[in-house]
Amino acid sequence: MEANGNIAATEKGGYAHFMLKEIHEQPQALQQTIAPYLETDSGPLANFLTAAQAQSLRKLYIVACGTSHHAGLVGKHAIESLARLSVEVDLASEFRYRNPLLDEHTAVLVISQSGETADTLASLQEAQRRGCPVWAITNVQNSSIAQQADAVLPTLAGTEVAIASTKAYTAQLAVLLLLAVHLAELRQTRPAADLAAIRQGLRELPQAVQAALEYGSFLQGLANQIAEQELIFFMGWGVDYAGALEAALKLKETSYIHAGALAAGELRHGPIALITEKAFMVCLQTQPHLRHRMQGNMQEVLAKGGKILLVDTDASPGAEDPGLLRVSLPQVHPLLAPIVSIVPLQLLAYYVAVARGCNVDKPRNLNKSVTIE
Ligand code: G6P
Repeated sequence: MEANGNIAATEKGGYAHFMLKEIHEQPQALQQTIAPYLETDSGPLANFLTAAQAQSLRKLYIVACGTSHHAGLVGKHAIESLARLSVEVDLASEFRYRNPLLDEHTAVLVISQSGETADTLASLQEAQRRGCPVWAITNVQNSSIAQQADAVLPTLAGTEVAIASTKAYTAQLAVLLLLAVHLAELRQTRPAADLAAIRQGLRELPQAVQAALEYGSFLQGLANQIAEQELIFFMGWGVDYAGALEAALKLKETSYIHAGALAAGELRHGPIALITEKAFMVCLQTQPHLRHRMQGNMQEVLAKGGKILLVDTDASPGAEDPGLLRVSLPQVHPLLAPIVSIVPLQLLAYYVAVARGCNVDKPRNLNKSVTIE
């Protein structure tokens, strides 16, 4: 541990790469990030906004790039579901140029691991020029975005060295969930017992993520098969679509395999034409009310000879099929599930990249933070 309580970042600590180390640091990064927020009287949300301010909000824009944008998509589900506040998620490179509709009932939340991404910083400045309060979730507390935002919600994931973001992403999701619970409390949109259950789920998250990490050797074995694959898709319903986008990005960034992400309901609207015995499909299934729809999708893929890796948080036995592999994760609250379900897919991306001999921590053409236009 470093003096400021952050996880020491400069050493690989026995891991072959920083990416693998940072994936394994997630239980600790989550615990460190979540703990201060659970101090409801003194934590980062204590004086964040008043009940009157929260109740007068009509709209929240979440603005970010890359992996942080995917965190925003997950956050939208949590905030809309718990706080009944309409959320629009925008890419910072779009938001800053599109003259968004902002008024006194709108707030803007920017998300940036580094706090230095040029388009995200410009979006923050544009929103402030237009008179909107801007909140920031960032992992770097002296960054430009942290300094210029009206309020900062820190992630305490420790320094992230690998270019592909892993522990910063799950820490962002945890803060978004904590914000959703807080907004719901102030706006009185959910019974106290429901919100207490989610807070308890957040306390228990590090153990659930630890259990997901146990799939490492299984995924390492599967990676050798996937490394030869020509066509990979990730699909999910609802919030699992956001997870699919992030999982596909991880694989593309680290292994240079083109991977598509699908909102599973769109499978029949085009992508099904690509499904043959050469296709490999990763299905995320963490939302109980959408399980029956994913089951239908999987039957279609298997019938066309496609192979499936199912990642679920669903203890039920499920169908057996020679083309179907399964990673069964601990059952957690459905709103928290994206924090657990991404972990095996980070590991998969890592091991596929290793199997293909890629430069895992520093993939070609990528930078940790894009600070120029
Ligand atoms: C770069 C990185 C990504 C990151 C994105 C946004 O593209 O390679 O991993 O998600 O920037 O970075 P930020 O620091 O703003 O979250």
